[in-house]
Amino acid sequence: MKKVIFSGIQPSGDLTLGNYIGALKQFGQFQDEFDCFYCIVDEHAITVPQDRLKLRNQIRSLAALYLAVGLDPEKSTLFIQSEVPAHAQAAWMLQCNVYIGELERMTQFKDKASGKAGVSAGLLTYPPLMAADILLYQTNLVPVGEDQKQHLELTRNLAERFNRKHNDIFTMPDIYIAKYGARVMSLQEPTKKMSKSDSNQKNAIYLLDPSNTITKKIKSAVTDSSGIVKYDKENKPGISNLLAIYSAITGEAILELEEKYEGKGYGAFKSDLAEIVVNELAPIQERYTAYLNSDELDKILDAGAEKARKVASKTLRKMENAMGLGRKRR
Ligand code: TYM
Repeated sequence: MKKVIFSGIQPSGDLTLGNYIGALKQFGQFQDEFDCFYCIVDEHAITVPQDRLKLRNQIRSLAALYLAVGLDPEKSTLFIQSEVPAHAQAAWMLQCNVYIGELERMTQFKDKASGKAGVSAGLLTYPPLMAADILLYQTNLVPVGEDQKQHLELTRNLAERFNRKHNDIFTMPDIYIAKYGARVMSLQEPTKKMSKSDSNQKNAIYLLDPSNTITKKIKSAVTDSSGIVKYDKENKPGISNLLAIYSAITGEAILELEEKYEGKGYGAFKSDLAEIVVNELAPIQERYTAYLNSDELDKILDAGAEKARKVASKTLRKMENAMGLGRKRR
């Protein structure tokens, strides 16, 4: 039997080059070897306030993007989280197996809650929902960016605790993090992560940005005054981030790139990088528009939800039996 891959993306804003390099770009490469489930995690998105109509558009937009980057619906299962009720049901059972202290320690919770007046309980219980996503499919491998590492560790702890306490039903998932680009940084503030929820648009390249905007953003990315194209995350975070992006897209090693641009300065390097990013995203944008306006997209999502419901309900039943919920069923 093929091993299982699960990953999810929140439809909480326009996707960035960080989401692409850290996650989406990897997804296609697993399709032949693994049984892949890729999810639009809309229930995660509502842990912070969302505009109803905007959220609907972003869900559809994200589905079209998944397909545009090369997910083949014949090989991978693409679906919307809220269309598979087992996620919320399993999340409840996992919430009853997690300690509040564990949730309060999550750095994402601390970052998102800090300074906010009305923090939803959902923001705190976000990680057991993520664990439910993963564990329902008996997942072996979870490809994500580095920022999800702590959530994955909690998922593993929860799986182990549930297996020990109730019944041995969950497969232990491993994390898969790309070698380069696991943490793409902001263009203007290269010591913080590029994020789709950033209010300053200049910090991120969005996957649907027009070519001239991408070029402008890369050319005005913050670097340093030395003019030497060298990877040094501590002292040269700006150029190091751009080198990591270059390397993640072209597959060229950072060392090779340093040699290639020796003595050439940042101007030439940035021009080339802009061209590389534009050429990478242009065909994706074209396919995206075609999918967005097609009925095919709805058919793919319908079929995906049906398949996901079938697989997830098996694990859900096992969880209910293990915890003694309802009446005994097979
Ligand atoms: P989300 O929606 O914030 O991001 C989606 C994916 O993109 C990665 N990513 C990045 N990678 C590199 N550099 C960046 N700057 C960058 N920003 C984001 C994220 O690591 C992620 O892989 N909690 C998850 C969604 C989720 C999920 C799951 C993931 C819910 N359930 C189950 C895997 C499995 C999140 O908020 O991702």
